[in-house]
Amino acid sequence: MRAADIENDLDRVLVTEEQMHDRLAELAKQVDADYAGKDILLVGVLKGAVMVMADFVRHLQIDAPMDWMAVSSYGASTKSSGVVQIRKDLDTPLEGKHVLVVEDIIDSGLTLNWLLEHFETRGAASIEVLAALRKPDAMKVEIDAKYVGFDIPSDFVIGYGLDYAERYRGLRDVAVLAPHVYS
Ligand code: PRP
Repeated sequence: MRAADIENDLDRVLVTEEQMHDRLAELAKQVDADYAGKDILLVGVLKGAVMVMADFVRHLQIDAPMDWMAVSSYGASTKSSGVVQIRKDLDTPLEGKHVLVVEDIIDSGLTLNWLLEHFETRGAASIEVLAALRKPDAMKVEIDAKYVGFDIPSDFVIGYGLDYAERYRGLRDVAVLAPHVYS
């Protein structure tokens, strides 16, 4: 669905599908150059990263295997608890791999902070982060993300994989949820 289909639930659109695809194409060119000849592994963080992974991997010219991890820190709330649970681990050993973690959003940064520390113990050759969205004003910990799609304000956003209580993940655009939906 597009933002116009659910306009009563939205405050405003922040990033259109077209803007996101153009930005991911730019980032894919950088990743193609940075990882040429390297043993790359894309690690997607379920469920939010499904859309960005699907679009990003198809913009790449290098062949990049992908694996998935499921963690959750949010539940049905709009605020991060900071408590990270592994719900599905990777199938691939990380030894010697150049890992690129693919995320939909860096909000407080707590999820990635935990994940990156965890991955460092698994022997990866390098670990970098690609995030479609980042909220600089909401970050509680410093995350050195090498590839970022868009910096956005600290509003509650949905779409392009991001949910509110499992709704709106299929919205093609990124939009601010109208407060009447969750208050
Ligand atoms: C969301 C998002 C990131 C994380 C970012 O996941 O996909 O993984 O929160 O927030 P943080 O920077 O404050 O830690 P969530 O736990 O909601 O699970 P989901 O991907 O299944 O929606």
